[in-house]
Amino acid sequence: MKKVLIIGGGSGIGFEIAKTLNSNNYDVACVGRKERENFEFKYVKCDVSKDDVKKIYETNVYDVLIFCAGIISSEEESFSYNEDEINNLVDTNLKGCIRCNQLFIDSCLKNSISGKIINISSISNKGSKYFPIYAATKAGILTYTKSVASRYENIQANVISPGVIKTDMSYHETPNFDEYIPSIIENTSVKRLGSTTDIANTVEFLLSDKSSYITGQEIVVDGGYTLPKE
Ligand SMILES: NC(=O)c1ccc[n+]([C@@H]2O[C@H](COP(=O)([O-])OP(=O)(O)OC[C@H]3O[C@@H](n4cnc5c(N)ncnc54)[C@H](OP(=O)(O)O)[C@@H]3O)[C@@H](O)[C@H]2O)c1
Repeated sequence: MKKVLIIGGGSGIGFEIAKTLNSNNYDVACVGRKERENFEFKYVKCDVSKDDVKKIYETNVYDVLIFCAGIISSEEESFSYNEDEINNLVDTNLKGCIRCNQLFIDSCLKNSISGKIINISSISNKGSKYFPIYAATKAGILTYTKSVASRYENIQANVISPGVIKTDMSYHETPNFDEYIPSIIENTSVKRLGSTTDIANTVEFLLSDKSSYITGQEIVVDGGYTLPKE
């Protein structure tokens, strides 16, 4: 049974990935900041922005790493200099990703495992009018993943960039998110909102043998939201 570690698997997209992989006979362990009593899967409490992430890897050797942890500001980010805001976003989204990836790669090399990594970025990685720092961290994840895939022949590393998916993060970022749903659907080619299942299905594909020749790539899962409109 392959062992998968999902950083940010306690809620939203990560939790859906955990359920999907569990039903596909993966041995699932999740990581998050919050205490989670009676959680469905193995769970390690660790804040990847500041705790020593080595503790996640102390008790197990994993075959797959999904880095899905992420935060976004609860209101428009400012373009003016705000060191706390920048540090929080960079430490969690980008440095957290790099730390977790590095330790996973070390473990794969040490244990002669051909590992698979999926890092979750965002369609914002091309730039964002309202969330410039978040967008920059998500661009960093994409570039870093390409570097990993380029360097390690036994690590298959890819990025999934979700479009708008209804989760707790949607309401954290935009408290009146529901009001925007009709216009999001209108701007999406497939004329529906994305779901956590859409992302979990893509993870399933990337972990299958059918994707074995794909590495260092970004798969955008947005129903066509970012396609040209004219
Ligand atoms: N929803 C969207 O529309 C959308 C679009 C594009 C990309 N994404 C990306 O998808 C990923 C999942 O987001 P989501 O929508 O599913 O939102 P979510 O439910 O808020 O999930 C975020 C997860 O990240 C974990 N996390 C945050 N900071 C952490 C830290 N410092 N250490 C460890 N875990 C941490 C949270 O754990 P706790 O609950 O324990 O704090 C939570 O489980 C994020 O990377 C997000 O940027 C989402």
